[in-house]
Amino acid sequence: MWVMVTGGAGYIGSHAVLALREAGFDVVVYDNLSRGFADALASEDFRGVPLVRGDVGDRQLVGETVRRFGVQAVMHFAALAQVAESVAEPVGYFRNNLVQGLDFVETLLDAGINTFIFSSTAAVYGEPQTIPIPEDHPTCPTNPYGMSKLSFEYVLASLARARGLRYATLRYFNVAGADPQGRAGERHDPETHLIPLVLRAASSGKAVDIFGTDYPTPDGTCIRDYIHVTDLVAAHILALRALLTGAVASHLPSGAGYGLKYNLGSQKGYSVREIITAAEKVVGHSIKVREAGRRPGDPAVLVASSERIRQELGWQPRFGLDEILATAWAWEQKRQTVNKGQSEEHGR
Ligand SMILES: NC(=O)c1ccc[n+]([C@@H]2O[C@H](COP(=O)([O-])OP(=O)(O)OC[C@H]3O[C@@H](n4cnc5c(N)ncnc54)[C@H](O)[C@@H]3O)[C@@H](O)[C@H]2O)c1
Repeated sequence: MWVMVTGGAGYIGSHAVLALREAGFDVVVYDNLSRGFADALASEDFRGVPLVRGDVGDRQLVGETVRRFGVQAVMHFAALAQVAESVAEPVGYFRNNLVQGLDFVETLLDAGINTFIFSSTAAVYGEPQTIPIPEDHPTCPTNPYGMSKLSFEYVLASLARARGLRYATLRYFNVAGADPQGRAGERHDPETHLIPLVLRAASSGKAVDIFGTDYPTPDGTCIRDYIHVTDLVAAHILALRALLTGAVASHLPSGAGYGLKYNLGSQKGYSVREIITAAEKVVGHSIKVREAGRRPGDPAVLVASSERIRQELGWQPRFGLDEILATAWAWEQKRQTVNKGQSEEHGR
């Protein structure tokens, strides 16, 4: 069965491609390469995975692609996903994540594809009222990124009722780590995520910023819930199978269509300082830090309750913080070697 992976040239999407192929699916990647990298899919490990370059809002190209490959299900990772950028450029975020998303999902339904997995985010919750955060926690996003994702969740819920869409919304907490076999890893430009920034600081000798040291947490820094990307994409495979077999549909209301909604996190929180200390153990030396002020809109603590997917789909994360840091560090070292090789090549 062919699955289309939008955003498959990005960080999480490229790991999903590997997991889908290991699970026996054929995969076509659809990505406009605005934030992703074609060379992420260039190695032998991705041999036979076609990359179609285009916007998810391009109805004609999406329609042609799903017909050409006989796509039957979609994992939709494509999005703009930087909070600060979304505050500065909200229109671009709503246009990309919501308006293009609307065109995309309608094109799929018109083509008879009604199995859909959506990458949502903990940012839909806003400032938490309870920790850990369950799926029925009130949603009150504090930035256009989270708002664009929550708006698209409403679109999906409406289309389940109106058009028989069967979808899973997966709300990720902090995704980190790299493929344990080194076939894929995190690569954002600019990078805004803590773990790759800490590891880059470790290899460059420069300082990593700690944004806020006066939060009401034991060491004053923000606490977040980190989930290994391999565990995250494993949850996508379980959700896809559940949608395809209708395994969890029996206890859900509404007729032909339905939606599953799951948080994906480890249910454990680590502060920024704890991450830096754990990273120092992995890299074997101390890492310089620079204490900076709080960033607006950063909640003190975000930790998921992911009980629902554990119970309904039997999902169980395999990797803890040590493996997250070890695989991310292996990827960072590989990246450094490639960069060094390229600059030597240019210098010749
Ligand atoms: N990384 C995290 O910690 C995290 C946390 C919560 C949610 N998410 C969500 O997971 C998804 C993947 O995140 P990521 O970290 O892999 O990001 P990423 O930037 O590495 O990948 C996103 C990919 O989508 C592509 N893309 C963006 N807009 C597109 C469009 N209109 N048409 C076609 N392709 C488009 C980009 O080129 C890129 O390859 C996103 O939807 C993001 O909101 C990520």
